[in-house]
Amino acid sequence: MKPNRAPIAVALDAPNLDTLRSWAQAVAPVVSTLKVGLEVFCRDGAIAVIAAREAARAGGVEDIELFLDLKLHDIPATVAGAAGAVAHLEPAILTVHAAGGAAMIEAAALALPNTRIAAVTVLTSIDEETLTSIGMAGPSIEAAVRLAVLATNAGARAVVCSPREVSAIRAAVGADITLITPGVRPVGSAAGDQKRVATPEQAIADGADLLVIGRPITGAADIAHAALDIARSIASVN
Ligand code: C5P
Repeated sequence: MKPNRAPIAVALDAPNLDTLRSWAQAVAPVVSTLKVGLEVFCRDGAIAVIAAREAARAGGVEDIELFLDLKLHDIPATVAGAAGAVAHLEPAILTVHAAGGAAMIEAAALALPNTRIAAVTVLTSIDEETLTSIGMAGPSIEAAVRLAVLATNAGARAVVCSPREVSAIRAAVGADITLITPGVRPVGSAAGDQKRVATPEQAIADGADLLVIGRPITGAADIAHAALDIARSIASVN
């Protein structure tokens, strides 16, 4: 992560490109990473990634990291093809679902050797009841650890998990794996559809390397200020 900026990936889940640009420009001086996800990528495609980088530059930041959150989950050949298709965008991070299995994760890692493949374990919107309903053996913390070990053995260099699972996953995968946590909510902000949440301070204290934060920042009246507030709140946590 960039030493001078907070280890936060702002989820640019914007309704249009102009909004995405304004969010990216506002937060880039404060955070290490901008995240372009499914909603935006399905609508605007590669231009959204290019726009986010350009907006960061307009905000005076040349070295913003791009997190492409496509959560790929398909047969290995298709995932390899999709990963190769975004290589020109040089994402620092690309997500795949760990539940796609070892061969699929390995295919993504081989297709994009210069990108950190991040394996999504159990979505932070999934609670115990939903996990049971989809037939996955729980509890969710055990499922997340199991998937994290599988994924990192297959070549994933990062894991996406709930902040509540960071300690257990860190113990299982070691220090070299980047742990990325969505489901981060400062005290007082709405959980929305996120179920397994924690505060930014708690997530960092538990060992998260990168916090994914969307609506608590992008839904604020002053986006730059909201990002700065969270950055300050985690700056003193080890
Ligand atoms: O607005 P909010 O802070 O909930 O945004 C969280 C972001 O993190 C969204 O873009 C969502 O797609 C993403 N994400 C997640 N859970 C995961 C992986 C990614 O919420 N397991």
